[in-house]
Amino acid sequence: MRKVILDMDPGIDDALALLLALRSPELQVLGITTVAGNAPVEMTSANARRVLEYLGVTDILVAMGAAKPLKHTLADALNYHGPDGLGQCNLPPPRLPLHPAKAWDFLAELVLNAPSEITLVATGPLTNVAHAFQYHPELPKLLAGLVLMGGAYSLTPYGKGNQTPFAEFNIWQDPEAAYIVFSSEVDIIAIGLDISMNPATCLTGQHLEQIKASHTPAARLTAKLVEYAIKHHGRCELHDPLALATLLDASLFDFISAPVEVISGNGWDRGITRILALGQAGELPLTHVAASVDGPRFLKLFLSRILEK
Ligand code: RIB
Ligand code: CA
Repeated sequence: MRKVILDMDPGIDDALALLLALRSPELQVLGITTVAGNAPVEMTSANARRVLEYLGVTDILVAMGAAKPLKHTLADALNYHGPDGLGQCNLPPPRLPLHPAKAWDFLAELVLNAPSEITLVATGPLTNVAHAFQYHPELPKLLAGLVLMGGAYSLTPYGKGNQTPFAEFNIWQDPEAAYIVFSSEVDIIAIGLDISMNPATCLTGQHLEQIKASHTPAARLTAKLVEYAIKHHGRCELHDPLALATLLDASLFDFISAPVEVISGNGWDRGITRILALGQAGELPLTHVAASVDGPRFLKLFLSRILEK
């Protein structure tokens, strides 16, 4: 089994990624850390626990992280994910307590106890990861790897921004944190909008009917989340489950390895992720950026895991 820690900002698609992780026997979720992004960090922390409790999972600790980006004020996406950040799925408030440690210290504690064994999956802004790398500089080398959902790399026609015409939400939210992470020594796999805005990777009404035909707790919650997204946005984008899927079947994707520059600050170019030529790289390490995906095969994997009895 592959040991993972999920750093997330639930959010509809983060919740779907959590469901996928919990339904995948290849993965052992050691812990969850939450960050402000789609919603304020108190809400993302409650939402992670609401999903766990709905599924009867009581042995995965959740540690709260950053309430705001390193340098900017929070710009949430509740207008997309709904007032509760979870598609108004009306799950009861969490009863489980939060882990007392801050997310970055909880992250470090787990990694130092299992050096080179744990893969961090980050599906929100990278604020917690940047804090963790700054407070615990040995961490990047002690992680087995980092899989992140973030960026828009112009590798496909879908690789444009969704927060600005040029920048993807997670990176735009905290570009200074992203710069720290992309410049670090950790081995990074990046899934950008080039992949996740491809209609072949999105759920539609036909998929929703298939999900509604199953009555397991995972299927019922998935149906609520997906239905909200389809009703309000015409489809359900699976940005975060795609990032997790790289750990389930890497053959779904093709990758290119290149240095990635992140534009920080608050100008028109905030949060741009630019693939550089090797000669321009300077000190930047190589990032493995997804350049293509087998959408139908990804959706088949996602649905089979969620709907499995
Ligand atoms: O741009 C999409 C990403 O931003 C996803 O991770 C979504 O959950 C939001 O965090
Ligand atoms: Ca997310």
